[in-house]
Amino acid sequence: MSLTREAVLHIDQETLNIQERFARLVASHPDRPKSYHIVTFGCQMNTHDSETLAGTLQHMGLTRCTQREEADLVLFNTCCIRDNAERKALGNITWLNEIKKKRPEMLIGICGCMMQQKGMAETVLKKYSFVDLAFGTGTLYRLPEYLFQLVDEKQRVIDVSREESTIAEGLPVLRDSDFKAYINIMYGCNNFCSYCIVPYVRGRERSRKADDILKEAQGLVKDGVREITLLGQNVNSFGNDTGEMSFPQLLQRLEETGIARLRFMTSHPKDLSDELIEVYANSQALAPHLHLPIQSGSNSMLLAMNRGYTAESYLDKVGRLRQALPDIGLTTDLIVAFPGETEADFEKTLELVDRVRFDSAFTFIYSKRTGTRAANFADMIESEVASHRINRLIQLQTGITKEVLANMKGEKTGILVEGVSARRKTQMSGKCGRNISVNFTGGDESLIGQIVPVEITGAGSNTLRGELEKEKD
Ligand code: 5AD
Ligand code: SF4
Repeated sequence: MSLTREAVLHIDQETLNIQERFARLVASHPDRPKSYHIVTFGCQMNTHDSETLAGTLQHMGLTRCTQREEADLVLFNTCCIRDNAERKALGNITWLNEIKKKRPEMLIGICGCMMQQKGMAETVLKKYSFVDLAFGTGTLYRLPEYLFQLVDEKQRVIDVSREESTIAEGLPVLRDSDFKAYINIMYGCNNFCSYCIVPYVRGRERSRKADDILKEAQGLVKDGVREITLLGQNVNSFGNDTGEMSFPQLLQRLEETGIARLRFMTSHPKDLSDELIEVYANSQALAPHLHLPIQSGSNSMLLAMNRGYTAESYLDKVGRLRQALPDIGLTTDLIVAFPGETEADFEKTLELVDRVRFDSAFTFIYSKRTGTRAANFADMIESEVASHRINRLIQLQTGITKEVLANMKGEKTGILVEGVSARRKTQMSGKCGRNISVNFTGGDESLIGQIVPVEITGAGSNTLRGELEKEKD
């Protein structure tokens, strides 16, 4: 069956109360699934959505099952940013159908960005007839209603009504960590970079109310959370739609909650303001790290990508940031083999990477996404050329990362301890402010969740080594 509904902005309390009633009905239903497993693909936004899905399912009395083959309900939270993300998700879903053939009572659901794509509902209905439940990113709050229909009416629920411009406050969240947390501050994107599917699947920009964000942060701080990462496709545009306050102002207000460490992602270079640079210079809580996707070092590629800045203006902003905060660590995203990219264009990317000296970079081969402007561009780059270019880029960045890390030797820095080191069980592991993993000696499990002083003693290819600084009496 298919459900449709009008788009709304803030989901009102009455609607949420109805969902709460459905949740109670599911919780007491004899045929409800007893356990769930969520498989998450894609970005932090999806990871955080999965925390809300998990919270909602727990609220209905389901318990988490670590083995997906054994769960009563398996939910795939999908991503469609590149072709390989989509293929991976569909491959996983198809594979699970083999298990479902042996366990027909198993329920399989798909949600997330892939489900927001045009024509996807039809595809699921026809090609993935074993899928019981499918819904998009905008109607996550209706999971109780979907599940009720599934267990009570024994009908498939396929709702990809493209209700994408919604904000639902107060949903249950089962956070993965006790001391690190994500907060969504805005949804959607207005930028329409010519290669990107996000504005089509996540809709237009809409900011949460500052008060709702601050209340959530205060609650987290009270619960002992030490690090908050603010999420949005383009956090710098926060507040543009509501006019309430700017992103730098929000950061300052969040700092007042007493949070030890604040991060955010992602920032669009064209919207990086002097006001934000000033917050970096003066803030105690803001981690000295910025993820600032450049995509290409060639101005003609940046123009074709509709990025709204040049390599020069990017470098200028990086210069100003580093002047304000010399130790800031920068990371980036890069796309190679965008349609029409010449060898000279690509070399400009190499030059820029060499100049900026990022701590690390996510590198991607351009992937054609149906519905985006670039999907109609001529001059696709041959896959051998694309592979050769990405390998050269990775090689360059690997060398830079090694050097940047080696230069950090001797630094004294705060580490948020996450657990025992996976490779050396006698060491603890965590992240420094620049978001680099550090394995260090001298600590134990009692430090998990705390920010402790560590001296950097050495570097590997993408992690640091260190030693806990003992308090002197
Ligand atoms: N092809 C390749 N990379 C892409 N990205 C977004 N869309 C595409 C695409 N069609 C990359 C960009 C973006 C990151 C999240 O994913 O680098 O910053
Ligand atoms: Fe996609 Fe560009 Fe929006 Fe980022 S800013 S989500 S790359 S359209």
